[in-house]
Amino acid sequence: MIVTLTVNPSVDASTSIEKVVPDHKLRCREASYKPGGGGINVSRAIRRLGGESLALYASGGLHGQLLHHMLEQEGVRHQEIRISGQTRENLIVVEESTGQQFRFDMPGPHFIEGDWLQCLEQLKALTEKPTYVVASGSLPPGCPADFYGRVVETAKQWNARVIVDTSGEALQYAADAGVYLLKPNARELEELVGHGIAGDEELKAAALELIEQGRTEVVVVSLGGQGALLITREGCEHLNAPEVQVLSVVGAGDSLVAGTVYSLERGRPLREAVQFGIASGSAAVMNPERELCKREDTERLFAEMKEADEAGR
Ligand SMILES: Nc1ncnc2c1ncn2[C@@H]1O[C@H](COP(=O)(O)OP(=O)(O)OP(=O)(O)O)[C@@H](O)[C@H]1O
Ligand SMILES: [Mg+2]
Repeated sequence: MIVTLTVNPSVDASTSIEKVVPDHKLRCREASYKPGGGGINVSRAIRRLGGESLALYASGGLHGQLLHHMLEQEGVRHQEIRISGQTRENLIVVEESTGQQFRFDMPGPHFIEGDWLQCLEQLKALTEKPTYVVASGSLPPGCPADFYGRVVETAKQWNARVIVDTSGEALQYAADAGVYLLKPNARELEELVGHGIAGDEELKAAALELIEQGRTEVVVVSLGGQGALLITREGCEHLNAPEVQVLSVVGAGDSLVAGTVYSLERGRPLREAVQFGIASGSAAVMNPERELCKREDTERLFAEMKEADEAGR
């Protein structure tokens, strides 16, 4: 079983307007709403790929209820963790005249100690023990920076493999606890190792440093349209992304993680799983904002990638 954990989920409202100008009342088009937050998106993408996971997420107030409703509608298995504050709402506004996107991200509810303790308690109390735990997304204010480190300690007691996709201090602490797989992009990896990195060779060296320190077994450095680097103790490989028409790159990273863990859980070898993840990420960018990957697109892209592999041998 795959469990995703989202401590700072969101309801994402999207709308558009001809032009964004200050001071005036901005009369926007009708808004649409989608669930958001790293782990929740990973669960949604797994569902779209035809798989199943349990989305465990912190939830409070009316937006929490809305999240519940939306996840039900999408057929995503989910479990709420009641918190004292209100789940946040983010706002995305597309300016029609320029195509520019304005993304307003809220910090999220202020966690009291009971909130994050409850998150850990509910994770510990899962009756069905997961084989994979995906901890993804930012931590809300008030949540200790070492929260994901505590998640890792819990998951290790079940021998579950932990996959972490976050940034900054939260990523530092997660890595300190020693995980199975980290999926930073180049900027997040730079931050994690504490120095600038340029080019494949330096990225590989930085990732290997993390592996040698015992902070992770696998590093997948996502490189947008360039695909990803897969680094383990056994070796490093640049896996290319297929060329696709890009509509929106939002959520590409979550789809990459989803495809990878979905495939791993089905017993596929690591290299193939990451390739399937890249296909999922690339399938996601073909769709509008927040749509994530479609199964047909992912499978077609994956088949093309395998063919290109064969041809290259
Ligand atoms: N322009 C693109 N063309 C094809 N595939 C892409 C493109 N951008 C992203 N992808 C796919 O999505 C994957 C993840 O993208 P990226 O490296 O941008 O993740 P990220 O930086 O974590 O993004 P985010 O967190 O904003 O979703 C890539 O490895 C690739 O498979
Ligand atoms: Mg990302």
